[in-house]
Amino acid sequence: MKLLILSCLFIFATINLSADALNLYKNCAGCHGENGEESALQKSKLIGGQESNLTVKELTAYKNGELNQYGLGDIMKLQLTSISEDDIQELADYIEQLDINSSNQKSDEIIEN
Ligand code: HEC
Repeated sequence: MKLLILSCLFIFATINLSADALNLYKNCAGCHGENGEESALQKSKLIGGQESNLTVKELTAYKNGELNQYGLGDIMKLQLTSISEDDIQELADYIEQLDINSSNQKSDEIIEN
């Protein structure tokens, strides 16, 4: 029973994240990894699971050309040219629930007995 409740919660959380976020993040995965488990161009932190408030701040600053932590801020600025404030929030929420230790196998099947 406990497992079933947990599964439901998990599925709810998954559905709650819009397909948009997933699509948006696809463009980021090339450098940051599908689960945010890669250091982009061997410079950035691992962003998977990072608190969404911090990600919003960072992405907004990159977009405005105000953040350049490792000398590659322009690369991030470019990534964000066509990304709106709403998209940034969605991306940040999506990134927060990523698990850098996950092997990318979603355990969202309902266990039925
Ligand atoms: C071409 C490779 C590339 C792509 C694609 C890319 N990034 Fe980055 N990202 C970087 C690099 C390089 C940095 C470090 C920039 C700097 O010098 O501050 C970075 C930094 C970041 C950081 C801050 C990490 C830290 O170390 O503090 C976040 C958050 C982030 N990127 C999110 C995203 C998101 C979201 C997307 C998709 C919209 C994205 N990135 C796409 C290369 C990339």
